[in-house]
Order: sequence, then C-alpha cells, then structure tokens
Amino acid sequence: MENSQAKVLPAFPEVPKMKGAILINGEILTEGFASREVHSTCASGEPVLLGTTPNVDAAMLLRAVDAAHHAWAKGQGDWPTARMEDRINAVSAFRDAMVARRELVCRLLMWEIGKSWLDSQAEFDRTILYVNDTIEELKRLDRDSTRLQFAGGLVAQIRRAPLGVTLCMGPFNYPLNETFTTLIPALIMGNTVVVKLARFGQLLWEPLLEAFRDCFPKGVVNIINGLGREIVAPSIQSGKIDVLAFIGSSRVASQIKAEHPNPHRFRSILSLDAKNPAVVLADADIDNAVSECIKGSLSFNGQRCTALKMLFVHRSVAAEFTKKMAAKIDALPTGLPWTPGVQITPLPDLGKPAYLQSLIDDAVKKGATLVNPALGGKVEGTLFHPALLRGVSLDSRVANEEQFGPVIPIREFDSIEEVEDYIVHSHSGAQVSLFGRDPNILGGMIDRLANQVCRINLNSQCQRGPDVFPFTGRKDSAEGTLSVYDALRCFSIRSMVAAKQDSAGKAVVRGILEKDTSRFFSSHVVI
Ligand code: G3H
Repeated sequence: MENSQAKVLPAFPEVPKMKGAILINGEILTEGFASREVHSTCASGEPVLLGTTPNVDAAMLLRAVDAAHHAWAKGQGDWPTARMEDRINAVSAFRDAMVARRELVCRLLMWEIGKSWLDSQAEFDRTILYVNDTIEELKRLDRDSTRLQFAGGLVAQIRRAPLGVTLCMGPFNYPLNETFTTLIPALIMGNTVVVKLARFGQLLWEPLLEAFRDCFPKGVVNIINGLGREIVAPSIQSGKIDVLAFIGSSRVASQIKAEHPNPHRFRSILSLDAKNPAVVLADADIDNAVSECIKGSLSFNGQRCTALKMLFVHRSVAAEFTKKMAAKIDALPTGLPWTPGVQITPLPDLGKPAYLQSLIDDAVKKGATLVNPALGGKVEGTLFHPALLRGVSLDSRVANEEQFGPVIPIREFDSIEEVEDYIVHSHSGAQVSLFGRDPNILGGMIDRLANQVCRINLNSQCQRGPDVFPFTGRKDSAEGTLSVYDALRCFSIRSMVAAKQDSAGKAVVRGILEKDTSRFFSSHVVI
C-alpha cells in the first residue's frame, strides 16, 4: 500500500470507504492482489482518502481473460449461445440493481474525479437511458432479423452473432457512461467481457460488482483494476482477446494493437484523440458563440474528448468575442463539486496543473497573450482557473496537443482557408463547430469539412449526445462507430442460415422453426 497523509472526509457528503474488490469468474475477490490508496483532490488542503482500489498484476488480468475465454468456450458457451431474450433479461435485471445503487455510485464518481454533483447524476442517468435504449434497439434488430429472406432460390435468415472475448477500457472523464457504452452492447450481443478500469473513477464500480456477479453467468463479466501500461500487453499477446473496446489516446491504442499475435482476427472499436476546433465567422451571433464556446471548452473543466480545444475567430470580431469570453470565464463559479451551481472543479490528476501551465508558458513564449491574468491559470489544489489565450501561434503546443483541461486558445484569422488548412492537416478528425449565418459561406465550409471530421455542429458546441447519433471520427480520432444503433453492430457479426427454396429445403426450415429447436435460427420474437 502506498503511504498516506490523507485527511478524513468532511462530514458532507459522506462516502463509505471502499475496500477494493475485483470480479473474476463469478467471484468477488478482496485479497490476493496488491492495492493502492485512492485520494480525492476535492479538498481545500491535502487530498482526501476515499479508500483502496485493487492494483492487480499481469497474471491476475490473464486470469480474468482466462475466465472470459472459458465462458466464451470457442463460441459454444451458454452466454454466447443464449437466446436474445435471456440476455436482455439479464441486462435488465442488472440495470434495476444498478439503479438501486445510484446515490452511492454518483457520490463516488463525484469524489474521485471531481465531477459536479449535478453532472455526476447526469452521467448516471444518461447511462441508464443508454441501457434502456440499447434494449429497445436490440429488440427492433432482433425482430427484423427473424424475418426470412428469399433470394437466388434460397430461403435464409440473417442474424447477428457475437465476436468473442472483449477487453473494455473506458476513460477517466466518463468512467461510468463511456465504459458502459461499450460494455453493455458487447455483453448483450453475447460476447464475454473483461473490464480494465480507467486511471480515475474506479471506486464507483465496487458497489456494482455484486449486481454483475448475480445477473450474469460466471466468467461472462470480469472486472479488474491495474496499471494498464504494466499489465495489458501479456493478455493481448496471449491471443485470447478477440475485441478491443478502448477509449483513450491513439498512442496507447497503437501499442496495444501491435501486441496481438493475429492482427487480422483482432477487432477494435476505438474512440481516441480529438482536437475539435470552433470557427467563429465574421457574421456570427457573438453572444451565442461565446456561450457555446464556454460550454464547449469548459464543461467538466474541458476534460471531454468532444471539448472545443482550439478557437479560430475572425479578426473583425475577435476583440469583442475575446472580451466577452474573458468576462464570462472569470465569472464562472468555481469550487468543490457538491457546491450548488459550480462549474469549475478540481482536476483529478495531481500532475495536470503543471502540464497546463507549461502549455500557457509555451504559447506566451511564441507570442500569445494571457487575456485573463488575474485569474487565468491560478491554481488552488488542483482547481485550475480557466486560462484564455489570444494570438496563439499555430506552432505552439496548445494549438497541437489535446490539452484536456481548462486552457482555451484563440487564434485570430483573416481567411477561411487558413482555418481549413489547420483542420486538413490535423491528425485528428472528430468534430468541428461553425458559428455564422451566411448560408453560402456555411454551405461551402460544410462541403469541404464533411470529409475531414464526422460531425459539424452549426452554432453550437461539439458533443457526443444524444447517444442515438453516430459518435466516431476520422484519422487518429476513432475506429468504428458508437451509438445505440451502431454499437450493437460493432460488437457482432452477421451470421446466416440458408436452405434451398425447394420442397425439401422448405420442410427442413419449417421443421426447425415450428419445433423451435434452435436458439439462433428461430422465429421467436422478443417483445
Ligand atoms: O469525452 C467524450 C464524451 O463522450 C463526451 O460526451 O459530448 O456528451 O460530453 P459529451
């Protein structure tokens, strides 16, 4: 265990201390592995001790992978061959058990990553909505798949079948929601899963372990914590993982993918880097642009893959835009995450303020000006007051690195080509926000940018939601598409049964369907 000088928790809001547990092969284990202390940076002084979390080694992760491998049983396991209805019932039961633990999960989320109480609850509720929408979408998909299709003298039924053992690794900024947006579709489609938790946002999983254990057959869901860079490679090298669902950096994704012995068999669903620009055109509604750029760059302290990370503002409106941004930024309520109305909260990563400051220093050295020096960049604990920079040069680090924090770079522009050139040459291709009114200018930009990014937001911030919309990116930003609809397809493959449409073929099809002898080839409809 690491050394602790942590203070006791303040009286409100209380968090029962977590002891540290993992779920492997249907068993909740509380010992047999190393642990580490988890501290919250949500404090006015020293970080607050929240409990301990497992810090398993590579052998323990391999054990979890073996459990999932065994439950998959080369595709013959009970879970991968279960009827869709049975899997839906298991996920529904899990969802109900999860809802019963809402309060504790939200408190742990708030304490560990510093997300405001309101946003922590919103993350939980959005996750439940995602589960519900997934179930409804799957019923639709399943109903459509039951229909027989006729072509080329054949009668066929085309359904979706699972892919295998899936390793899910979510991000720290949405440790619940984003992990669930891969875990739930992977599970419900019949895959078996190992979840390796993110760097922060681990404790909230502990109250859910019993529900996972009780709602799914053993080995179908396994949940461990550990240092990814030390433990993931051997599991991938074992060749026992068929699918990687990872939300994080493209650098780490490339390292993981390179470890697999059969790269063609190894599928990846990835949500990676994003350096989303906003473009404020000369005719933009400045008040709206300011308000959307503040939400876009500072919601959850800018720690969103969908955050606006580079603002291009037409020179003719730059002074007004910058002045209004600075005034609003400095007026944002800052404080601990349970403070009502708070917008800016402590960052969970102790090292982050120094990194953000280094970006500011570099930008200033290359000609930028810190617009709000009284507050911008001030640090209290890990609470980092948002810093607004103007005159940012394109060779500065903040124009190229994904800051993932409250530093907002503004680059004034004269011609749209300069901005489009930046976007075309960017290594990321997730989203862009365009602020303006002229349909001719906007229409042309849309046509040129639609092949650079995967979502163009008009007069509004970049965002993932609603989760029924496709969430993906080009270049280093993503592989595969996530949405309620797409994820079910990403974690499965079409597999079909076909027979000749002659009397013998029809008789055999009728026999199987009428006697309901197959769980896969079936007219059974989930209602
Ligand atoms: O960090 C990436 C999240 O998916 C962002 O989702 O745009 O709905 O906040 P959001």
